[in-house]
Amino acid sequence: MDRAQRLITQLADGQWHSGEALAEVLEVSRAAVWKRLQALADIGLEVESRHGKGYRLTRPVDLLRVDAITAAMKAHASKLPSLEVATSIDSTNARLMQLDNAPAALLAEHQTAGRGRRGRAWCSPFGANLYFSLAWRFDSMPPQLPALSLAVGVALAETLTDLGAAGTGLKWPNDLLWHGRKLAGVLIEHRGEAAGPCRVVIGVGLNVGMTASQGNEIDQDWVSLAEVHAAADTVMPDRNALAGQLLKALLQCLEQFATTGFDSFHPRWSTLDVMRNQAVRLQQERGDVEGVAQGVDRHGALLVQVRGERQRFFSGEVSLRAVGGA
Ligand code: BTN
Repeated sequence: MDRAQRLITQLADGQWHSGEALAEVLEVSRAAVWKRLQALADIGLEVESRHGKGYRLTRPVDLLRVDAITAAMKAHASKLPSLEVATSIDSTNARLMQLDNAPAALLAEHQTAGRGRRGRAWCSPFGANLYFSLAWRFDSMPPQLPALSLAVGVALAETLTDLGAAGTGLKWPNDLLWHGRKLAGVLIEHRGEAAGPCRVVIGVGLNVGMTASQGNEIDQDWVSLAEVHAAADTVMPDRNALAGQLLKALLQCLEQFATTGFDSFHPRWSTLDVMRNQAVRLQQERGDVEGVAQGVDRHGALLVQVRGERQRFFSGEVSLRAVGGA
């Protein structure tokens, strides 16, 4: 554990800690402690100081821990030889894309350059949400690889629903929505030749407990899992349990996708589809198209009825919006 991690671990309980005690744990001077406490603000951690008491976080954080995540994965943990938690990183996807090992998972408390789909940024305040990536290798490029992102959406939405987040649905290709508000997003990146093995990195961003001020730069309607559970009157699992359950579900999803492709996920995706029979607008480089969404085909392409004719759209090319809504 480096010094920044040690400092955050000490403060995570939200209790007061004297400058002297922190200096001792970190093995630095009190002036150096003060400098390090200032730096926590840069990653979104708010520290309060009081004469005679010392320092505390304005909100305690339930830090991610490899042992707790592994415990939540139960027997499936043995399928994941590499599982790491970073305190602050540019992007868990970017980092795993630079490596070659698989399966491997990387979670972060904070991302400085979180990546969303279509070149957008992903808001990643410290300790508020879940940001993680899973690297996986297919022996050969699955013919339905573009549909993998839809299968991943199914695995995530079903898991969250099983854990009590009622009302979670999917917007093509893989946004998790709750009453039209974005709960989670998936970014899949891959490397590989058509003929050889293919390594994919699946990045998941799930809004867990982000406050309105932490998420105020997001330009679309969003919701946190805490609000979903409050509405359903169910208890939200802690972030470690959530991460473990979601990683387990993703490993099962990938194993299944390697054998069945999208076929076994297709009917499940349709059950979760929140846009079916809705008036939609597809924004694409060569101009917008309006029509009525009609689900997806067995390759994961979106089907839209446009002026009496059924058209297919592939993710990556287009962005889907409900007409008059999100
Ligand atoms: C989207 O735009 O809907 C996809 C968002 C994906 C965000 C996650 S957070 C963890 C992983 N690392 C990244 O940089 N992006 C993904």
